[in-house]
Amino acid sequence: MDENKGTAAGSTGDPLAEVDALARDFEADAEEVRDAPALEELRARYIGRKRGRLTAVFDGLRDAAPESRGVVGKAANRARQIIEKRLGEIQTDLAAAVDEDTATDLDVTLPGRVQKPGSLHPITLALEEIVSVFTRMGYKVVGGPEVEQDFYNFEALNIPRDHPARDIQDTLYLGHDWLLRTHTSPVQIRTMEQQEPPLAIIVPGRVYRRDTPDATHTPSFVQCEGLVIDRDITMADLKGTLDHFAKALFGPQTETRLRPGYFPFTEPSAEMDANAGNGWIEMLGCGMVHPNVLEAVGYDPQEWQGFAFGMGVDRIAALRYGITDIRIFYENDVRFLRQFTV
Ligand code: PHE
Repeated sequence: MDENKGTAAGSTGDPLAEVDALARDFEADAEEVRDAPALEELRARYIGRKRGRLTAVFDGLRDAAPESRGVVGKAANRARQIIEKRLGEIQTDLAAAVDEDTATDLDVTLPGRVQKPGSLHPITLALEEIVSVFTRMGYKVVGGPEVEQDFYNFEALNIPRDHPARDIQDTLYLGHDWLLRTHTSPVQIRTMEQQEPPLAIIVPGRVYRRDTPDATHTPSFVQCEGLVIDRDITMADLKGTLDHFAKALFGPQTETRLRPGYFPFTEPSAEMDANAGNGWIEMLGCGMVHPNVLEAVGYDPQEWQGFAFGMGVDRIAALRYGITDIRIFYENDVRFLRQFTV
Protein backbone atom coordinates (compact mmCIF):
# COMPACT_ATOMS: atom_id res chain seq x y z
CA MET A 1 0.00 0.00 0.00
CA ASP A 2 1.28 3.39 -0.87
CA GLU A 3 0.61 5.67 2.10
CA ASN A 4 1.26 8.88 0.22
CA LYS A 5 -0.51 8.13 -2.98
CA GLY A 6 -3.31 10.62 -3.60
CA THR A 7 -2.86 12.40 -0.28
CA ALA A 8 -1.18 15.29 -2.04
CA ALA A 9 -4.18 15.61 -4.33
CA GLY A 10 -6.39 15.99 -1.23
CA SER A 11 -4.38 18.85 0.24
CA THR A 12 -3.22 20.61 -2.85
CA GLY A 13 -5.17 19.37 -5.86
CA ASP A 14 -8.62 18.76 -7.16
CA PRO A 15 -10.86 17.22 -4.41
CA LEU A 16 -12.96 15.35 -7.02
CA ALA A 17 -9.82 13.72 -8.38
CA GLU A 18 -8.83 12.82 -4.79
CA VAL A 19 -12.21 11.11 -4.21
CA ASP A 20 -11.69 9.06 -7.39
CA ALA A 21 -8.11 8.23 -6.43
CA LEU A 22 -8.90 7.24 -2.84
CA ALA A 23 -11.83 5.11 -4.01
CA ARG A 24 -9.47 3.21 -6.33
CA ASP A 25 -6.74 2.94 -3.67
CA PHE A 26 -9.31 1.68 -1.19
CA GLU A 27 -10.38 -1.12 -3.54
CA ALA A 28 -6.77 -2.20 -3.98
CA ASP A 29 -6.00 -2.01 -0.25
CA ALA A 30 -9.19 -3.90 0.63
CA GLU A 31 -7.95 -6.89 -1.38
CA GLU A 32 -4.96 -7.17 0.95
CA VAL A 33 -6.92 -7.45 4.19
CA ARG A 34 -6.53 -10.87 5.84
CA ASP A 35 -7.43 -10.28 9.49
CA ALA A 36 -9.31 -8.03 11.91
CA PRO A 37 -6.39 -5.67 12.77
CA ALA A 38 -5.76 -5.08 9.04
CA LEU A 39 -9.45 -4.31 8.60
CA GLU A 40 -9.35 -1.71 11.42
CA GLU A 41 -6.23 -0.18 9.92
CA LEU A 42 -8.00 0.08 6.53
CA ARG A 43 -11.05 1.70 8.12
CA ALA A 44 -8.86 4.25 9.92
CA ARG A 45 -6.86 5.07 6.81
CA TYR A 46 -9.93 5.99 4.76
CA ILE A 47 -12.74 7.03 7.08
CA GLY A 48 -11.00 7.37 10.48
CA ARG A 49 -11.84 10.54 12.33
CA LYS A 50 -8.22 11.68 12.66
CA ARG A 51 -6.36 10.53 9.56
CA GLY A 52 -8.92 9.21 7.10
CA ARG A 53 -8.41 10.30 3.51
CA LEU A 54 -12.13 10.60 2.89
CA THR A 55 -12.54 12.41 6.23
CA ALA A 56 -9.98 14.93 4.95
CA VAL A 57 -12.07 15.52 1.84
CA PHE A 58 -15.16 16.17 3.98
CA ASP A 59 -13.14 18.49 6.20
CA GLY A 60 -11.98 20.38 3.07
CA LEU A 61 -15.58 21.02 2.05
CA ARG A 62 -15.87 23.68 4.75
CA ASP A 63 -13.38 25.91 2.87
CA ALA A 64 -14.50 24.95 -0.63
CA ALA A 65 -16.16 27.30 -3.06
CA PRO A 66 -19.98 26.98 -2.80
CA GLU A 67 -20.32 25.88 -6.44
CA SER A 68 -17.96 22.91 -6.04
CA ARG A 69 -19.23 21.97 -2.54
CA GLY A 70 -22.33 20.17 -3.80
CA VAL A 71 -20.54 18.16 -6.49
CA VAL A 72 -17.64 17.11 -4.28
CA GLY A 73 -20.00 16.43 -1.34
CA LYS A 74 -22.12 14.08 -3.47
CA ALA A 75 -19.08 12.23 -4.79
CA ALA A 76 -17.61 11.96 -1.27
CA ASN A 77 -20.90 10.62 0.14
CA ARG A 78 -21.14 8.01 -2.60
CA ALA A 79 -17.55 6.98 -1.90
CA ARG A 80 -18.34 6.72 1.83
CA GLN A 81 -21.31 4.44 1.14
CA ILE A 82 -19.22 2.18 -1.07
CA ILE A 83 -16.37 2.06 1.46
CA GLU A 84 -18.63 1.32 4.43
CA LYS A 85 -20.45 -1.41 2.53
CA ARG A 86 -17.17 -3.00 1.51
CA LEU A 87 -15.79 -2.81 5.08
CA GLY A 88 -18.96 -4.56 6.27
CA GLU A 89 -18.52 -7.33 3.72
CA ILE A 90 -14.90 -7.91 4.68
CA GLN A 91 -15.90 -8.11 8.33
CA THR A 92 -18.53 -10.78 7.52
CA ASP A 93 -16.02 -12.78 5.45
CA LEU A 94 -13.41 -12.70 8.20
CA ALA A 95 -15.94 -13.87 10.82
CA ALA A 96 -16.97 -16.80 8.59
CA ALA A 97 -13.34 -17.78 8.04
CA VAL A 98 -12.71 -17.77 11.80
CA ASP A 99 -15.69 -20.13 12.33
CA GLU A 100 -14.35 -22.49 9.70
CA ASP A 101 -10.88 -22.46 11.23
CA THR A 102 -12.07 -23.36 14.71
CA ALA A 103 -14.30 -26.11 13.29
CA THR A 104 -11.49 -27.92 11.48
CA ASP A 105 -8.68 -27.13 13.89
CA LEU A 106 -7.12 -30.05 15.70
CA ASP A 107 -7.90 -29.81 19.40
CA VAL A 108 -4.83 -31.37 20.99
CA THR A 109 -6.52 -31.46 24.40
CA LEU A 110 -9.15 -33.98 23.19
CA PRO A 111 -8.54 -37.59 24.26
CA GLY A 112 -7.20 -39.82 21.44
CA ARG A 113 -9.46 -42.21 19.54
CA VAL A 114 -9.19 -45.66 21.07
CA GLN A 115 -8.45 -48.42 18.53
CA LYS A 116 -10.69 -51.40 19.22
CA PRO A 117 -8.52 -54.52 19.41
CA GLY A 118 -9.63 -57.51 17.36
CA SER A 119 -10.75 -60.69 19.08
CA LEU A 120 -10.51 -64.40 18.45
CA HIS A 121 -13.62 -66.09 17.11
CA PRO A 122 -15.53 -67.99 19.85
CA ILE A 123 -15.02 -71.26 17.94
CA THR A 124 -11.28 -70.59 17.82
CA LEU A 125 -11.30 -69.84 21.56
CA ALA A 126 -13.18 -73.07 22.33
CA LEU A 127 -10.91 -75.05 19.99
CA GLU A 128 -7.76 -73.66 21.62
CA GLU A 129 -9.11 -74.60 25.03
CA ILE A 130 -10.00 -78.15 23.93
CA VAL A 131 -6.66 -78.71 22.22
CA SER A 132 -4.69 -77.39 25.19
CA VAL A 133 -6.35 -79.85 27.61
CA PHE A 134 -4.97 -82.68 25.46
CA THR A 135 -1.55 -81.21 24.63
CA ARG A 136 -1.02 -80.87 28.39
CA MET A 137 -1.56 -84.64 28.57
CA GLY A 138 1.08 -85.18 25.88
CA TYR A 139 -1.09 -85.44 22.75
CA LYS A 140 0.40 -84.17 19.50
CA VAL A 141 -1.66 -81.87 17.23
CA VAL A 142 -2.10 -83.29 13.72
CA GLY A 143 -3.92 -81.96 10.63
CA GLY A 144 -5.24 -83.47 7.41
CA PRO A 145 -6.77 -82.48 4.07
CA GLU A 146 -10.36 -81.21 3.80
CA VAL A 147 -10.61 -82.62 0.28
CA GLU A 148 -10.41 -86.31 1.04
CA GLN A 149 -10.57 -89.68 -0.68
CA ASP A 150 -13.37 -92.17 -0.14
CA PHE A 151 -10.78 -94.63 1.19
CA TYR A 152 -9.76 -92.44 4.16
CA ASN A 153 -13.17 -90.93 4.89
CA PHE A 154 -15.10 -94.25 4.72
CA GLU A 155 -13.41 -97.43 3.50
CA ALA A 156 -10.48 -97.70 5.93
CA LEU A 157 -12.78 -96.60 8.77
CA ASN A 158 -14.84 -99.75 8.34
CA ILE A 159 -17.78 -97.82 6.93
CA PRO A 160 -19.49 -100.30 4.61
CA ARG A 161 -20.50 -99.52 1.02
CA ASP A 162 -24.19 -99.35 1.89
CA HIS A 163 -23.81 -97.17 5.01
CA PRO A 164 -26.21 -94.19 4.98
CA ALA A 165 -23.34 -91.73 5.67
CA ARG A 166 -22.05 -92.55 2.19
CA ASP A 167 -25.31 -91.40 0.66
CA ILE A 168 -25.11 -88.41 -1.64
CA GLN A 169 -27.74 -86.89 0.69
CA ASP A 170 -25.16 -86.59 3.47
CA THR A 171 -21.81 -86.26 1.73
CA LEU A 172 -20.56 -83.55 -0.62
CA TYR A 173 -18.84 -85.51 -3.41
CA LEU A 174 -16.33 -83.82 -5.71
CA GLY A 175 -16.03 -86.72 -8.10
CA HIS A 176 -16.12 -90.51 -8.01
CA ASP A 177 -13.47 -91.02 -5.36
CA TRP A 178 -13.12 -87.52 -3.98
CA LEU A 179 -15.25 -85.73 -1.40
CA LEU A 180 -15.20 -83.04 1.27
CA ARG A 181 -14.45 -84.93 4.48
CA THR A 182 -17.53 -85.47 6.61
CA HIS A 183 -15.51 -85.89 9.82
CA THR A 184 -11.94 -85.64 11.11
CA SER A 185 -11.66 -89.42 11.54
CA PRO A 186 -9.77 -89.93 8.21
CA VAL A 187 -6.80 -88.28 9.96
CA GLN A 188 -6.73 -91.33 12.28
CA ILE A 189 -5.97 -93.48 9.22
CA ARG A 190 -3.49 -91.06 7.67
CA THR A 191 -1.56 -90.81 10.96
CA MET A 192 -1.49 -94.56 11.65
CA GLU A 193 -0.35 -95.20 8.07
CA GLN A 194 2.66 -92.97 8.65
CA GLN A 195 3.54 -93.62 12.29
CA GLU A 196 4.30 -96.65 14.39
CA PRO A 197 2.40 -97.07 17.65
CA PRO A 198 2.22 -95.94 20.41
CA LEU A 199 0.66 -92.58 19.60
CA ALA A 200 -1.67 -89.97 21.03
CA ILE A 201 -3.00 -87.29 18.68
CA ILE A 202 -5.54 -84.49 18.73
CA VAL A 203 -6.94 -83.35 15.35
CA PRO A 204 -8.79 -80.04 15.00
CA GLY A 205 -10.30 -79.42 11.58
CA ARG A 206 -13.12 -78.29 9.35
CA VAL A 207 -15.63 -80.82 8.05
CA TYR A 208 -18.54 -80.67 5.59
CA ARG A 209 -21.99 -82.21 5.45
CA ARG A 210 -24.96 -81.78 3.19
CA ASP A 211 -27.10 -80.21 5.88
CA THR A 212 -29.68 -77.46 5.67
CA PRO A 213 -28.68 -74.81 8.21
CA ASP A 214 -30.82 -74.64 11.34
CA ALA A 215 -30.22 -73.88 15.03
CA THR A 216 -28.02 -76.99 15.46
CA HIS A 217 -26.71 -77.73 11.92
CA THR A 218 -24.48 -75.92 9.45
CA PRO A 219 -23.09 -77.44 6.22
CA SER A 220 -19.54 -76.75 7.39
CA PHE A 221 -18.34 -76.92 10.98
CA VAL A 222 -15.29 -77.64 13.08
CA GLN A 223 -14.58 -80.98 14.72
CA CYS A 224 -11.89 -82.13 17.10
CA GLU A 225 -10.77 -85.75 16.99
CA GLY A 226 -8.63 -87.69 19.41
CA LEU A 227 -6.85 -91.02 19.03
CA VAL A 228 -4.69 -93.00 21.44
CA ILE A 229 -2.98 -96.28 20.49
CA ASP A 230 -0.87 -98.23 22.94
CA ARG A 231 -0.54 -101.61 24.61
CA ASP A 232 -3.18 -102.60 27.15
CA ILE A 233 -5.50 -99.67 26.46
CA THR A 234 -8.98 -100.30 27.86
CA MET A 235 -12.31 -98.54 28.06
CA ALA A 236 -11.25 -97.31 31.53
CA ASP A 237 -8.51 -95.20 29.88
CA LEU A 238 -11.10 -93.68 27.56
CA LYS A 239 -13.49 -92.98 30.42
CA GLY A 240 -10.84 -91.44 32.68
CA THR A 241 -9.39 -89.29 29.92
CA LEU A 242 -12.73 -87.91 28.74
CA ASP A 243 -13.94 -87.32 32.31
CA HIS A 244 -10.78 -85.29 32.97
CA PHE A 245 -11.41 -83.38 29.74
CA ALA A 246 -15.02 -82.48 30.67
CA LYS A 247 -13.92 -81.31 34.12
CA ALA A 248 -11.09 -79.21 32.66
CA LEU A 249 -13.54 -77.54 30.28
CA PHE A 250 -16.66 -77.05 32.38
CA GLY A 251 -15.32 -77.14 35.95
CA PRO A 252 -14.32 -79.75 38.57
CA GLN A 253 -17.95 -80.33 39.66
CA THR A 254 -18.74 -81.73 36.20
CA GLU A 255 -20.02 -85.31 36.00
CA THR A 256 -19.85 -87.52 32.91
CA ARG A 257 -21.60 -90.65 31.74
CA LEU A 258 -21.25 -92.99 28.77
CA ARG A 259 -24.27 -94.19 26.82
CA PRO A 260 -24.08 -97.01 24.27
CA GLY A 261 -23.63 -95.66 20.75
CA TYR A 262 -22.71 -96.86 17.28
CA PHE A 263 -19.85 -95.94 14.99
CA PRO A 264 -18.51 -98.43 12.42
CA PHE A 265 -14.88 -97.58 13.32
CA THR A 266 -15.19 -98.18 17.10
CA GLU A 267 -16.32 -101.21 19.07
CA PRO A 268 -17.73 -100.79 21.58
CA SER A 269 -18.98 -97.26 20.78
CA ALA A 270 -20.45 -94.70 23.14
CA GLU A 271 -21.79 -91.18 23.44
CA MET A 272 -20.52 -89.17 26.35
CA ASP A 273 -22.81 -86.79 28.22
CA ALA A 274 -21.68 -84.17 30.69
CA ASN A 275 -23.52 -82.43 33.51
CA ALA A 276 -21.83 -79.29 34.83
CA GLY A 277 -24.71 -78.58 37.20
CA ASN A 278 -27.60 -77.72 34.93
CA GLY A 279 -28.56 -80.98 33.26
CA TRP A 280 -27.08 -83.68 31.06
CA ILE A 281 -25.94 -82.69 27.60
CA GLU A 282 -24.41 -84.79 24.83
CA MET A 283 -20.77 -83.86 24.34
CA LEU A 284 -19.05 -86.27 21.98
CA GLY A 285 -18.88 -89.67 20.30
CA CYS A 286 -16.21 -92.19 21.26
CA GLY A 287 -15.22 -95.85 21.46
CA MET A 288 -12.47 -98.45 21.30
CA VAL A 289 -10.76 -98.52 17.89
CA HIS A 290 -12.28 -101.34 15.82
CA PRO A 291 -9.85 -104.21 15.02
CA ASN A 292 -10.74 -103.82 11.31
CA VAL A 293 -9.41 -100.24 11.42
CA LEU A 294 -6.16 -101.37 13.06
CA GLU A 295 -5.77 -104.07 10.42
CA ALA A 296 -6.45 -101.58 7.60
CA VAL A 297 -3.32 -99.64 8.62
CA GLY A 298 -1.22 -102.73 9.35
CA TYR A 299 -1.33 -102.63 13.16
CA ASP A 300 -1.67 -105.99 14.92
CA PRO A 301 -4.91 -105.82 17.00
CA GLN A 302 -3.52 -108.53 19.30
CA GLU A 303 -0.66 -106.23 20.28
CA TRP A 304 -2.20 -102.75 19.99
CA GLN A 305 -5.46 -101.29 21.22
CA GLY A 306 -6.76 -97.79 21.38
CA PHE A 307 -9.61 -95.40 21.87
CA ALA A 308 -10.89 -92.56 19.73
CA PHE A 309 -13.32 -89.72 20.20
CA GLY A 310 -14.72 -86.89 18.12
CA MET A 311 -16.70 -83.78 18.95
CA GLY A 312 -18.34 -80.82 17.24
CA VAL A 313 -16.50 -77.72 18.42
CA ASP A 314 -19.50 -75.50 17.55
CA ARG A 315 -21.50 -77.55 19.99
CA ILE A 316 -18.90 -77.26 22.74
CA ALA A 317 -18.58 -73.50 22.09
CA ALA A 318 -22.39 -73.13 22.21
CA LEU A 319 -22.46 -74.92 25.60
CA ARG A 320 -19.49 -72.93 26.85
CA TYR A 321 -20.95 -69.53 25.91
CA GLY A 322 -24.66 -70.24 26.38
CA ILE A 323 -25.58 -69.97 22.69
CA THR A 324 -28.79 -71.60 21.47
CA ASP A 325 -28.45 -71.09 17.70
CA ILE A 326 -25.04 -72.01 16.23
CA ARG A 327 -25.71 -70.07 13.01
CA ILE A 328 -24.68 -66.93 14.91
CA PHE A 329 -21.07 -68.27 14.82
CA TYR A 330 -21.02 -67.88 11.04
CA GLU A 331 -22.83 -64.56 10.60
CA ASN A 332 -19.76 -62.60 11.71
CA ASP A 333 -21.78 -59.80 13.26
CA VAL A 334 -19.14 -57.68 15.02
CA ARG A 335 -21.57 -56.87 17.83
CA PHE A 336 -21.54 -60.58 18.67
CA LEU A 337 -17.84 -61.16 18.01
CA ARG A 338 -16.69 -58.17 20.09
CA GLN A 339 -18.01 -59.80 23.24
CA PHE A 340 -15.18 -62.31 23.01
CA THR A 341 -12.41 -59.69 23.25
CA VAL A 342 -10.05 -60.88 25.96
N1 PHE B 1 -16.41 -89.29 13.52
C1 PHE B 1 -17.54 -89.32 14.42
C2 PHE B 1 -18.57 -88.27 13.96
O1 PHE B 1 -18.26 -87.47 13.12
C3 PHE B 1 -17.15 -89.03 15.84
C4 PHE B 1 -16.26 -90.10 16.41
C5 PHE B 1 -14.89 -89.98 16.33
C6 PHE B 1 -16.80 -91.18 17.06
C7 PHE B 1 -14.07 -90.96 16.87
C8 PHE B 1 -16.00 -92.17 17.61
C9 PHE B 1 -14.63 -92.06 17.50
O2 PHE B 1 -19.68 -88.24 14.45
